[in-house]
Amino acid sequence: MTDTVSRRSALTLLGVAIAVATAATSGFTPTARAYAQGRPDAGAGPRVERLIARLTLDEKISLLHGATDPDSLGQAGYIPGVKRLGVPPLRLADGPAGVRVTRHATALPAPVLLAAAFDPDLARRYGQVIGREGRALGQDVLLSPMVNLIRTPYAGRNFETFSEDPLLASDLVAAEIEGIQGEGLVATVKHYALNNQERDRNSIDVRVDERTMHEIELRGFEAAVAAGTGAVMGAYNKVNGTFACENKTLLTDILREQWGFGGWVMTDWFAAHSTVAAITAGLDMEMPDGTYFGTALKSAVQNGSVPEQFVDRAVRRVLGVMDRFGLLDGSVPARPDRDPEAGAAVALEVARAGATLLRNERGTLPLTGGDIAVIGPSGTLPFVSGGGSAHVIPDHADTPLDAITARAGSGAKVTYALGEDLFGKEIPAASLTPAFDSAGHDVGAGQTWTYDGTLTVAEADEWTFVIHYSGAPTIRPKVLLDGVELFPLAPGYGEYFMGGLVTTAPDGLAVRRATLTLAKGTHTLSISAQGGDAGQLFRLRRITGATRAQDLAEAVTAARSARHVVLFAYEDATEGLDRTTIALPGNQSRLIEAVTAANPRSTVVLNTSSSTSMPWLELTGAVLQMYYPGQEGAAATAAVLFGDCDPGGRLTQSFPSDDDHHPVAGDPRRYPGVDGTEEYSEGIHVGYRWYDAEGVRPLFPFGHGLSYTSFAYENPSVRWTRRGLDVGFTVHNTGRRAGVDVPQVYVGRSPDLRLDQAVRALGGYRRIALRAGERRRVTVRVDARTLSSWDVKRHAWVLGTGRRTVWIGASSRDLRLRTSVEVSR
Ligand code: BGC
Repeated sequence: MTDTVSRRSALTLLGVAIAVATAATSGFTPTARAYAQGRPDAGAGPRVERLIARLTLDEKISLLHGATDPDSLGQAGYIPGVKRLGVPPLRLADGPAGVRVTRHATALPAPVLLAAAFDPDLARRYGQVIGREGRALGQDVLLSPMVNLIRTPYAGRNFETFSEDPLLASDLVAAEIEGIQGEGLVATVKHYALNNQERDRNSIDVRVDERTMHEIELRGFEAAVAAGTGAVMGAYNKVNGTFACENKTLLTDILREQWGFGGWVMTDWFAAHSTVAAITAGLDMEMPDGTYFGTALKSAVQNGSVPEQFVDRAVRRVLGVMDRFGLLDGSVPARPDRDPEAGAAVALEVARAGATLLRNERGTLPLTGGDIAVIGPSGTLPFVSGGGSAHVIPDHADTPLDAITARAGSGAKVTYALGEDLFGKEIPAASLTPAFDSAGHDVGAGQTWTYDGTLTVAEADEWTFVIHYSGAPTIRPKVLLDGVELFPLAPGYGEYFMGGLVTTAPDGLAVRRATLTLAKGTHTLSISAQGGDAGQLFRLRRITGATRAQDLAEAVTAARSARHVVLFAYEDATEGLDRTTIALPGNQSRLIEAVTAANPRSTVVLNTSSSTSMPWLELTGAVLQMYYPGQEGAAATAAVLFGDCDPGGRLTQSFPSDDDHHPVAGDPRRYPGVDGTEEYSEGIHVGYRWYDAEGVRPLFPFGHGLSYTSFAYENPSVRWTRRGLDVGFTVHNTGRRAGVDVPQVYVGRSPDLRLDQAVRALGGYRRIALRAGERRRVTVRVDARTLSSWDVKRHAWVLGTGRRTVWIGASSRDLRLRTSVEVSR
């Protein structure tokens, strides 16, 4: 994981950029369209061919692997270009929720929250913000969007992707790519393919059948290719025995031959495993360095194990995309300036649109007058984003407490209680012999500070030691308790993937924790801190059973003395790490139980990455799912809580009731894998398809989300048009407020296909805003692809003909209208 960054300015919709964005769908001639998409059968155009003829082997190879950027702005990758021939360098930056460089950028809400809006047009505008900012910040290629499906609730990157449903994911990825590339930034759809978990991601071998692959995981990637994505990132994992980055089935047979992709394929970071096998299978670029595609590739060409045409093919794909984007002839529009206000406006709109109200009893929300107790650590620590490569340095981020206080105005008193301590409290000086100040030590550059003493505890208790320190993990102070090191350096990328926000203290110091049970009595404690070149600030803190009880008691008191409670609960997800339970971490469930017992007018706001079990659900008044809502998340949360806007989000994944009832529960071969292999034995039954097939009740179903008003669906009609179904119905706002609804259309099995089909699958949806009492007729198109299954004999899609049931509902389990239609060829 290298970081580089750069800065320039973003594009407006001009010439080539417009052609690129619209080529996939507009009225181009087949050849022009194939060329615009960089398809291999169309060649890459004369300019690229002339360049290839003039490039030396070394120059060609330099275009096929990452290098160190001399003018880095902290972006993830860099390709130096060939100055002699006017080929400019490429700068490649993450990521899915905004441009990740070492400068400020618009931190958009996590993609899962964007998806919750069920609104491809919003995804396009989200992409436009990132596209413009990427160009403004000196980037040429964006390492996003991620479209891997949500298959397991444990996966660490569920917040970075869209959904468990392939149709929704496809719609959103296509629209976002059009938005990004319309601004002149090359998009990279990732991680191709089946990177559906972080655990063992570098080695796990996903065993999946052809039909499941095409019907479920690959649809989003295919949609990205159809939308003209310039690049594809190969995944870390293996697929059916072969690493994704050297997998011919994926890289050539499907991507190139079936889908006609003509852009380039890069590896995920350090995901290359070979030279000859990889380039032969269809890999074009190794990132971020040249371990396999540097001198090793040159030698392979020289000794004849790789024909130079393979190198030319890869170079042609890279240069072909650069040419499409006007990077070779200078026709690329000048980089614009950032537009932080416009970015912030979209970030706010997305966070409001995706806010998903899961429960609202006894009129708990919207908040009316009366004092409010804000409780929970994420009330004052804004959960802007998850951890890993999707993390963005936000332009700003208010705390929810401040946003609620501002919105409540002078009419209501807002108090705050921590409830759950994340960063620890000072260790009482009296328990340390000799005494030392655990509140903070500043070790000067070149100095060493050591402590050898004892810690005495009056009662046996669970202790979480928390160290806060400046500088790199390698110079973290060494702390030994009874001779055991409390914060050893994690191997490999372990330090990088420690977690997201809770690994940084509010003042920016890095944080590590170690929990152990301490027996009553005296324990030896020794600390050794090095000032290093820049000096080091550190503090050692603790959270104990006793401090936890005190925090809880204060929260209960605050809850009791207010009319309303807004309790912020978090889960800190990151790339590189799966969670091991869907329960909230730490003591939060206990906190929610205690607070809701003290005040039933309690709303739990979830800043979590994915689904959460809620044993406390019935005790709450309301539950609002905000995921990681980006830099404007606090304002959006306050707006929804006070009813300034309708919570317009719907779940894009089923929420299981607990760790034992979900699609990958109870079978380690399914998840997390056994002996390095994992079987996708649920087949096409991913997400709600599994709950329906097994008759299991989720805690909250796919598509669920409440409004502050109510909607009814009336007068269904359905027509088969050979291109798909046109499903018509009237949506009626039956309540007394304006509101937003997302009616969904589901389609049942085809009686003519002798296949294990989904009980029902999402066929389409429509996000719609209606005034109180308003009725509107909508038509939802269910395309023929969604009515088709993958035929493994013909390796092609086959239309599911015959009489098919069509449902219109408010979630996959709230199906209100039912009709049927004859589908024929
Ligand atoms: C992630 C990619 C990311 C890359 C560059 C990898 O660890 O899996 O999604 O684009 O790093 O930061």
